[in-house]
Amino acid sequence: MNISVVGSGYVGLITAAGFAEKGHNVVCVDVVSSKVDSINRGKPLIYEEGLDEILRAVVGRNLSASMDLHAAVLASDITFICVGTPSRPNGSIELKYIKESARQVGLALGEKKGFHIVVVKSTVIPGTTDNVIKPILEKASGRKAGVGFGLAMNPEFLREGFAVEDFRKPDRIIVGASDSKSMGVLERLYAGFPTGLLATDLKTAEMIKYASNAFLATKISFINEVGNVCKSIGVDTYKVAEGMGLDKRITPHFLRAGIGFGGSCFPKDVKSLVYRAKELGIKPRILKAVLDVNHTQPRRFIELARKKAGSLKGRRVAVLGLAFKGGTDDIRESPAVAIVHELLKEKANVVAYDPKAAGNARDVFGDRIVYAASSADCLRGADIALIVTEWEEFRKLDFSGMKRRIVVDGKRMLDIANLAKDVDYEGICW
Ligand code: UDX
Repeated sequence: MNISVVGSGYVGLITAAGFAEKGHNVVCVDVVSSKVDSINRGKPLIYEEGLDEILRAVVGRNLSASMDLHAAVLASDITFICVGTPSRPNGSIELKYIKESARQVGLALGEKKGFHIVVVKSTVIPGTTDNVIKPILEKASGRKAGVGFGLAMNPEFLREGFAVEDFRKPDRIIVGASDSKSMGVLERLYAGFPTGLLATDLKTAEMIKYASNAFLATKISFINEVGNVCKSIGVDTYKVAEGMGLDKRITPHFLRAGIGFGGSCFPKDVKSLVYRAKELGIKPRILKAVLDVNHTQPRRFIELARKKAGSLKGRRVAVLGLAFKGGTDDIRESPAVAIVHELLKEKANVVAYDPKAAGNARDVFGDRIVYAASSADCLRGADIALIVTEWEEFRKLDFSGMKRRIVVDGKRMLDIANLAKDVDYEGICW
């Protein structure tokens, strides 16, 4: 098929590359020229395992990037809208980018002969595709959804760091469609995937995405709250989680207690759902508690560091990790970043190391912190070490170069039983 993808960020670029790898002709569109140029050189601006190899194989063959949305829609049969839907300060979802994209797609639709299908892949609050995006497309194209063009909603479930794998082998493919013709085309598009497709209506597909992310975030805040209790009664949360995970209804996944969740999805999606529930006059008690627990974990972590090292003012604090999780360069809503902000407020001397995210962190902290080139450099001469991102290389850290060997772990990375005797170690929930 001929596919256009509007928005070439984490979701759009993986979607474009993934379909191109399947042999489709794909044009991915972006408003940022450096992104377009980088993709056309086969060099992604994001770090995702396996993405480089795919781009090397498809760029110049059946994948190209462009700033011309109009032409891309005219030259394709199906358009995926993958633009960002960030949080507004009040927690509600910002739709301005997807509204403008829909308007431009609609204008191109108005010039097309065949039955073009528009697929919303951006994460939008239930009801958005039907009540916001559809009217914009109809107005701009002068056509009726389901008749003059097709409309569908196909949420993504890509985990950063595993996005290529998750696209190739998704746990599920959810498609909401306004009409049977659109559903049929998407069923054919996804026929080559190793996963069945669950067909729903538009807002059910939107809700499956939100409910899934909100549930996963709930699971994390749950184990963090249980972890805080376990720690205060001298129980190892990770042993508790191991026991819980043996129950096939619970599973061991997403029971890793620590400094809380970050990323561009969980915080934003839970906040949007809270906001929408309130608009509907429903008290989102559980979801608010999920955010509340998540907001206080980094603060508990700093309190623990202060308890062990005394005042952090003027202390050399080694921060191991800046990304919101291991395997990515993304620092959006990263608890590690929140912790560095707290440390700077306390006038600590922060030396940070992250294998991939230091560049992004420099955009936030500039020269207010020192960026070490390795964990050893980061730890050298430090009064206290804080482990705040789950990079695999942090499982083996050598603390011998530290001035004082105080280690506070927010991600349970170390083999506690085999730590050197002179390391004063403690975890946030263990
Ligand atoms: C998430 C969802 O998993 C994915 O399906 C959705 O499409 C996008 O949002 P992502 O945000 O990339 O993916 O990361 P994920 O691996 O889910 O981790 C999210 C956050 O939770 C990270 O900060 C991670 O460190 C934290 N986490 C995860 C925990 O604190 N404990 C856990 O047990 C698991």
